[in-house]
Amino acid sequence: MKKRKLKNFNNIPNHVAVIMDGNGRWAEKRGLKRNMGHRKGADRLYEILMASLEVGVKVLTVYAFSVENWKRPQAEVDYLMTEATNFLKKHESDIISKEIRVIVIGEDDRIPDYLREKKYYYMDLTKDYNKMTFVIALNYGSHQELVQMVKKISEKVKTNEIDINDINEQTVEENLYTKGLPPVDLMIRTSGEIRVSNFLLWQLSYAEMYFTKVLWPDFNKKEYYKALEEYQLRQRRFGGLTK
Ligand code: IPE
Ligand code: IPE
Ligand code: MG
Repeated sequence: MKKRKLKNFNNIPNHVAVIMDGNGRWAEKRGLKRNMGHRKGADRLYEILMASLEVGVKVLTVYAFSVENWKRPQAEVDYLMTEATNFLKKHESDIISKEIRVIVIGEDDRIPDYLREKKYYYMDLTKDYNKMTFVIALNYGSHQELVQMVKKISEKVKTNEIDINDINEQTVEENLYTKGLPPVDLMIRTSGEIRVSNFLLWQLSYAEMYFTKVLWPDFNKKEYYKALEEYQLRQRRFGGLTK
């Protein structure tokens, strides 16, 4: 089988964010348990991370578990926590040899100890790498992130670290979990759902959106290239006029 390649490497998005959706439906369609969809989805994630590195995407942010996902049955939640830990363990040496920086964003509460430990261990281990940044949104909610940002800034105002009149967009940026990361250029959501589900509301403000019916466990490199190729054709105006 001929391996598909990206046609051209011009205009590659700097930051791609992905809502990896449809694992459950993928499994159910095959008469499998939902967890098998998560299992397959984790392998796809690694494939897309490697493809990002190959084509020159600088930051890949993926939605692994939302604050709303705690509503799911305990067994599925447990499986997702274990799968996330296994993913980090399984790819550790590869991520190190490829010099990928890993950042986990989201709240620490409710995350099992073994995964929280792995989270900080990994972030510390990879903090000096800069070939690419891989951001995992785990126990993440955009509303929570914005509430935390307001609290952090308020605290700094209270202690006179900053003056209220000096608060600007940069102040906001610096107090989000995504501090230091560039804005999202391309947001991909799989499985046909057309919504953002509390993901990166501030950071997506001028992102190009790509929605596909393909379920996440089927979202291979070829599908990723399709999204990148569509992005390459988009005209981004940022409120201005096309040259
Ligand atoms: C995405 O797949 C993975 C997570 C939300 C963790 P889903 O589990 O939401 O799959 P569907 O949407 O039920 O098919
Ligand atoms: C969004 O998918 C969260 C993740 C992919 C981790 P969901 O399947 O949880 O979102 P909704 O419920 O369809 O909005
Ligand atoms: Mg879903």
